[in-house]
Amino acid sequence: MPLSVAPRTAPSASEIRQFADDIAYYLALSPRQLPSKYFYDALGSALFEAICELPWYRITRAEQRLIERHRRKLIERVQPSTLVELGPGSGAKLATILDASPSWRHVSVHLVDVSAAALAAAARTLSDGGRVDVFTHQAPYESGLAAVRRSGPANGRTLTLFLGSNIGNFDPPGAHALLRSIRGGLAPGDALLVGADLVKEERKLLLAYDDPLGVTAAFNRNLLVRINREIGGDFDVAAFAHRASWNAAASRVEMHLVSTRAQRVRVSRAGLEIAFREGETVWTESSYKYEPACVVAMLERAAFRPLEQWIDDEDRFALTLVEPA
Ligand code: TRP
Repeated sequence: MPLSVAPRTAPSASEIRQFADDIAYYLALSPRQLPSKYFYDALGSALFEAICELPWYRITRAEQRLIERHRRKLIERVQPSTLVELGPGSGAKLATILDASPSWRHVSVHLVDVSAAALAAAARTLSDGGRVDVFTHQAPYESGLAAVRRSGPANGRTLTLFLGSNIGNFDPPGAHALLRSIRGGLAPGDALLVGADLVKEERKLLLAYDDPLGVTAAFNRNLLVRINREIGGDFDVAAFAHRASWNAAASRVEMHLVSTRAQRVRVSRAGLEIAFREGETVWTESSYKYEPACVVAMLERAAFRPLEQWIDDEDRFALTLVEPA
């Protein structure tokens, strides 16, 4: 799919307020942080689609291969009439799954994403065939799931998709809470498919999150561009460097923005004035890496029972299908 930057729709006053409040809270923590859901404005979503095309970022292609290989078994096993995807990105993987669904079965699709641009692109991709009803929910995962539930009881079985190793962007308590809330909305016969990236050589992990073209660096720094534009920040974007590091003890890649000199930054709508030291970091994202059995254990703790696990050995990636226990 070609990269597309959707027309910029101005964020609402309440979205701006929420963004400013979150930034004020997270930037004041020690060490300083920024919540990663704000990566995905129109430019951020386009940069993320570009990351998925990079030779060093292999998650998207590994997952797509697994889906192509196993989608028939998946569809036969679950026979879903409703599909819910958290963070669909371009919608390409969901389209691949839907292709395996028999043409006589009518399906409803619910897409939950913080990015208006991603939702527009995914809805376009999925509406093409004309045999699916697409509902979009522009919201963070938890409130999006609540909106899906409010939209009425699903007819038939629901397959929920949580792909792209998006689970890995939550710390263990956050991942548990989110899985519990997904689980809370499921009925017997429903299923959840989780894509999770596996531990691999450090060199490969770091190249995936710090690529030689600098696309991931641009993606990370775009968060500062967004703060400047939407909530009155005056970040000197060029004075923050992208850094990815592997934290073996926690089994996660960490993304940071590093202040390359001592500098003061103001964010007017967040009422912030910050003095950064040279070398001071802002932690913007974690990407946890798993062993296949850890993924199953994490799902079991959230009251799921494993049905299947498919593994891509080439790029070390796992798709795990579970049902409510
Ligand atoms: N779910 C993706 C991952 O953890 C998100 C992601 C990919 C990402 N590349 C990134 C997040 C770079 C921040 C920076 O792999």
